[in-house]
Amino acid sequence: MTGPIEIVRTVADLRARVAGWHADGETVAMVPTMGAIHDGHMALVRQARTLADRVVASIFVNPLQFGQNEDFNAYPRGEARDAALLAEAGAVLLFAPNAAEMYPDGFATTVHVGGLTDGLCGTSRPTHFDGVATVVAKLLLQCGPDVAIFGEKDYQQLLVIKRLVRDLDIPVEIVGGAIVRENDGLALSSRNAYLSAKEREAAPLLHTAIRQAAAEVAAGQTIELALESARAAIEAAGFRIDYLEVRDPKTLELLSGTVGEARILVAAFLGKTRLIDNVPVPPQA
Ligand code: PAJ
Repeated sequence: MTGPIEIVRTVADLRARVAGWHADGETVAMVPTMGAIHDGHMALVRQARTLADRVVASIFVNPLQFGQNEDFNAYPRGEARDAALLAEAGAVLLFAPNAAEMYPDGFATTVHVGGLTDGLCGTSRPTHFDGVATVVAKLLLQCGPDVAIFGEKDYQQLLVIKRLVRDLDIPVEIVGGAIVRENDGLALSSRNAYLSAKEREAAPLLHTAIRQAAAEVAAGQTIELALESARAAIEAAGFRIDYLEVRDPKTLELLSGTVGEARILVAAFLGKTRLIDNVPVPPQA
């Protein structure tokens, strides 16, 4: 569905629009993003359209979730293009606040989700999930949607947000969206734009290797042996591995030996670019 998209920049305007829809008996879905919109984000908006009458997207490059040496300044920004793509996917309202609207002077509250944030991306990016949980709690409370959609691409983030919403009794349903990939298997990511032509060629190997490991674990191979082959393949493609682990798909508990259901999660650097990916065990058809 293509139509015009209205842009609001204040919490007051956002609340007024959503309150109007709710007063008319319409349901509202929210899709939070940091912009640099690609087909992964658009798929979430399309999914949101099937779940609610109105879709609100947000764009806010959240300084709180970037570490000191990370790419906050370099993160790609282009609101007009992003707004057009979100409209094309079916969003009717874009909430695009500035930093002062989100974090006014004196802002002093941090939301921390324990446990789930301890390993994986939480180890290499120690302040990241506090930044994500804080901004997502705010966005959900500012908008008050009936449902909000987050991608499985950021699998740990999705679980952290589900826990946050449950623990703080935020009245919204959190729904996961499937990972959208390029034809060669590379998961769509705003950070793929940082890859050189040579790195882009090597990048899909990350997905190939974890999918292969998922097939092996599903066939009864031990996690240790399956990960050993995957690690060798990923390193041979030129990656430096940050983590490569098999975890419980709901609790993220670290698994070993042979298992039935699991999630294989990886983060690895190609040059300066950090890519993440994950796949289910057993693999999806
Ligand atoms: P961002 O990286 O812009 O992603 C916005 C949403 O799109 C997230 O839910 C993410 O999981 C999803 N997404 C990204 N790539 C995807 C792909 N290839 N397939 C499916 N979904 C994909 O994640 C964030 O922003 C931020 O942390 C945010 C939640 C907005 C909080 O600031």
